[in-house]
Amino acid sequence: MNILILGSGGREHAFAKKIAESDKVSRLFVAPGNAGTATIATNVAINPTDFESVKALVLENAISMVIVGPEAPLVAGVHDFFVADEMLKHVSVIGPKKDGALLEGSKDYSKQFMEKHQIPTAKYQSFTAETLEAGKKFLETFSPPYVLKADGLAAGKGVLIIDDLEEARSELEEMLSNEKFGVASSTVVIEEFLDGIELSVFVLTDGINYKVLPSAKDYKRIGEGDTGLNTGGMGAISPVPFADDDFLQKVEERVIKPTINGLQKDAIDYRGFIFIGLMNVNGDPYVIEYNVRMGDPETEVVLPRIASDLVDLFEGVATQKLADKSYEVSSQTAATVMLVSGGYPEAYEKGKLITGADTIEDSIVYHAGTALQGNQVVTNGGRVMAITSLGDTIQEALNKTYANIETISFEKMNFRKDIGFDLV
Ligand code: AMP
Ligand code: GLY
Repeated sequence: MNILILGSGGREHAFAKKIAESDKVSRLFVAPGNAGTATIATNVAINPTDFESVKALVLENAISMVIVGPEAPLVAGVHDFFVADEMLKHVSVIGPKKDGALLEGSKDYSKQFMEKHQIPTAKYQSFTAETLEAGKKFLETFSPPYVLKADGLAAGKGVLIIDDLEEARSELEEMLSNEKFGVASSTVVIEEFLDGIELSVFVLTDGINYKVLPSAKDYKRIGEGDTGLNTGGMGAISPVPFADDDFLQKVEERVIKPTINGLQKDAIDYRGFIFIGLMNVNGDPYVIEYNVRMGDPETEVVLPRIASDLVDLFEGVATQKLADKSYEVSSQTAATVMLVSGGYPEAYEKGKLITGADTIEDSIVYHAGTALQGNQVVTNGGRVMAITSLGDTIQEALNKTYANIETISFEKMNFRKDIGFDLV
């Protein structure tokens, strides 16, 4: 079959590599893709939220499966668009429809969902400009730090964690009355601060059945020791050592099952990934957030550990026969480190020549923000490449990755030297 992946990051290169290994694939397309996906698939320069162009591509190339990488096309309704179109409705789309995508698209909705289906999460209330004063009072019912979340998508910047009550009150006002995050903050969730260790668990579901994918921990801050500004993610490790069988059992019983059952009760036909951001609070899992897609760079450590044919699993998702599909995970540990452009996550330059990445043998080089300029690979984004290695231990995997990074270079290349520091 012919398959299309929507997106252009390291996550999408990881999907492309894994899918290219399947015997079930004839032709593989990535839109828009990067210099890495260009080596194993056909890149097509269209924007994933331009549904008419996606439609033309799918029809021209007899594509029968579409895997949606990022959240934006899902929240904008790409799956609904396919279902509503006579010529596209036979195509399998991996990713939820709009109603399911709201779990990521609206924090207020996802909190209501968790409350309704008794899924453990931080105590909360939501406020709008009309209820600003009540919001300020609600803040006083918590002890610091205070957690404020813009309801809508805010490019990963919509969560504020603030130590000082006065500052929290004024930020709340900025968000609600002055559109600090645009319309995304016209509703704000105020919630209890959860003190614990964070990790993510991924689920692939056909709406009834599910497979629990490997756990992962990402490193969001730009600086060593988890300091400095937030990024999309600077590295990741899978599995997470403190997510032992006992903890994962709790996650399955208290979070995953009620989530899948809740979707069914709410008549949401969900076919795709659920990325569950969790806080481990003294051994008990609490949900911080849902995402309706895989994480990036988490995908770059989760997929290399999946031993089964991913396309076969996706067929199970599309036909609601996921329960019949075999699913195996490698016991090895995967570690990835992101190489980023100097300046990221603030202003950075693009178009820097990348050398040394194509001779690496015992790590996997996933391209993220890269592009082809003639036949040279140049930087084209903040996060440039994720270097993943497998090993029997975290340290072994990291050693391979860091040794191979020595051979890669581009002007102002930056990366964190301490990925996994808290786990080894
Ligand atoms: P989110 O955009 O929902 O992933 O939130 C960004 C980050 O804020 C999370 O990855 C957590 O580190 C942190 N965070 C969000 N909600 C809470 C909470 N209730 N308690 C503690 N930390 C939180
Ligand atoms: N690495 C976090 C995310 O993909 O949202």
